[in-house]
Amino acid sequence: MSASLSQADIISRELAALTHLEARIGFIARAVAGKIAFSTSLGVEDQVILHAIATTGAAIDVFTLDTGRHFPETLDTIESSERRYAPRIRLIAPNARDLESLVARDGINGFRSSIDARKACCDVRKVRPLQRALAGARGWVTGLRRGQSVGRHSIPFAEIDTGLGLLKLNPLADWSLEQVEAYIAANDIPINPLHTRGYPSVGCQPCTRPVRPGEDVRAGRWWWENEDGKECGLHNRPIAESS
Ligand code: ADX
Ligand code: SF4
Repeated sequence: MSASLSQADIISRELAALTHLEARIGFIARAVAGKIAFSTSLGVEDQVILHAIATTGAAIDVFTLDTGRHFPETLDTIESSERRYAPRIRLIAPNARDLESLVARDGINGFRSSIDARKACCDVRKVRPLQRALAGARGWVTGLRRGQSVGRHSIPFAEIDTGLGLLKLNPLADWSLEQVEAYIAANDIPINPLHTRGYPSVGCQPCTRPVRPGEDVRAGRWWWENEDGKECGLHNRPIAESS
């Protein structure tokens, strides 16, 4: 663990020193020995990273978790992204038996009944598929930014996900939303059309609503829950942080 932790520390410092995203992606591809996978929700941050991976030609596998409850616009964004960037985005589906048991127990919209039921749904549709998607990977790239929420304000560039046993890499950790938007405009990157209709952050359809002017960008996600609990389990797992 200590060797990995110091590796995360070194990578974090290197990434902080590199200003260009393409340089950060290239560095990650060289620094991580073994398979690297990038999880995309097709959100704006992820589209920025997808563009940088495509333009640098970095050997990073790209996958998305198809929960079965996405907006049609999100699925269309997979298609427009593949058309623009060529390689297929690997689609990871929930395990069919897990899903059947969940729905048999809680109902088709059971996630509305309690926070535990909501977390059980996220577990079957997102967390377990994520574990499968990352099996054998040494590095996991995400589009997390510190500015996205209070709970994310201290996200490092690199950390160890002790549960998954790999390096988690957040190359946009220090980017502002304005930088993300400027990069998208400058490179004419395809985005989810819902962003122009009041949805700055898009998750599953039944668990995302548009935000009102002045509201936080993540206010439309699991809006009926308290701010502190609003993670689906992809990112609130045991972590050993670099300094
Ligand atoms: S979430 O945990 O609240 O859903 P958010 O939408 O902010 O996450 O996205 C943060 C990061 O989690 C994304 O940059 C991406 O790396 C990953 N992620 C979220 N949803 C998915 C998904 N459906 N498929 C793949 N990766 C995802
Ligand atoms: Fe289920 Fe909602 Fe979580 Fe999607 S966001 S997996 S529909 S609880």
